[in-house]
Amino acid sequence: MLVTEYFPKDSMKDKVVFVTGGGSGINLGIAKHFAALGAKVGICGRRQEKLDEAAEELRSFGNEVFAETCDVRDYPGLQEVIENCYESLGPIDVLVCAAAGNFPCPAEVLSPNGFKSVVDIDLRGSFHACHASVEQLKETKGCIIFISAGQAFLPYPLQCHVGAAKAGVDNLMKNLALEWGKHGIRSNSIAPGPIEGTEGARRLAPPGTKDLIDEQIPLRRHGTIEEIAQVAVFLASPLASYITGSVIVVDGGQNLPGSGAGFNVIQQAWQEQSGNPG
Ligand code: COA
Repeated sequence: MLVTEYFPKDSMKDKVVFVTGGGSGINLGIAKHFAALGAKVGICGRRQEKLDEAAEELRSFGNEVFAETCDVRDYPGLQEVIENCYESLGPIDVLVCAAAGNFPCPAEVLSPNGFKSVVDIDLRGSFHACHASVEQLKETKGCIIFISAGQAFLPYPLQCHVGAAKAGVDNLMKNLALEWGKHGIRSNSIAPGPIEGTEGARRLAPPGTKDLIDEQIPLRRHGTIEEIAQVAVFLASPLASYITGSVIVVDGGQNLPGSGAGFNVIQQAWQEQSGNPG
C-alpha cells in the first residue's frame, strides 16, 4: 500500500473515520487506507454479509472497527448508527459520504422512482450523514469528504439521475464548507474517473469497452482504488489544512476532452446490447 510509504504509519492513530457505504469498492479502499495508518474505522451499508467481510478485512490492520447496517436514505436509522459508532469509537474526525447508487438508463425510459432512488441515496444520504455527525465534527474540528463524480460537472449519456445527484452533492459540499468553516470543519469532494475493479465501472461500461474508454482518457488508463483512497488520506491530513470547498478531480484527465468524447460509442454499445432506446 503506497500510502504507508509516504505517510507515517501512525499518522491517523486514534482518529475516527466513518465511511458510508464502506463495505466494498472505492469506499472500502478508503477505509482500509485510513486503517493502515492507525485510524479507528466505522462503516455502514445495507447488506450485513458484505459489511461483516469488510469489517474482518479492516480488523486485520489491528485497530478498532465498527460496522452496522443501515440505509442512508433512512435518517433515523443512520442517525442511530452514527450514535452507536460514537459510543464505540468516539467522535468522528473524518466523515466520508460515499454511499451511492448507479445504473445506466436513458432519461426517456428512467422512471421517476429510479431518478428519485439515486438522488435519495447520493444526495439526501450525504446530507443525512453530515447532519447526523455535525456535533461530533464540531468536537473534533473534523473534515468531510464527499465522493462525487465527473457527472456532476459534465453531462454523460444515460446518467441524468447521477449527474443531478452528484451536482447536488458538490453544491452541498460547498455550502457546508461555507457554513461550518467557523467550527473548523473542512468539506471537500473527490470526483473519481473510471476506476478499475469497481461496481461503478462494471455497471457503466458495457463488456468490451474498457479499451475504448482508456483511449479517451489523457493518461490512457482507468484509475485504481488506491489512487482515490490516497487523495482521501491527503484531504484528511494536516497537509490539506487550508483546503475546503474544493472538488478534487481524480480522473486521469478524462473530463478534459469534454462530455461527448467517446461516450457515443458506449451509448451505442449499450443500445445494441440492452435493446433500450434513448
Ligand atoms: N434501469 C432502470 N431503472 C432501474 C434500474 C435500471 N438498471 N435499476 C433500478 N431501477 C429503478 C427501478 O425500476 C425502480 O423504479 P420503479 O419503482 O419505477 O420501477 C427504482 O429504480 C428503484 O429500484 P429498487 O430496486 O427498488 O431500488 P433500490 O432502492 O433497492 O436500489 C439502486 C437502488 C436502484 C440504485 C440499485 O441499483 C442499488 O442498490 N445500487 C447499489 C449499488 C450501486 O449502485 N453501486 C454503484 C455505485 S457507483
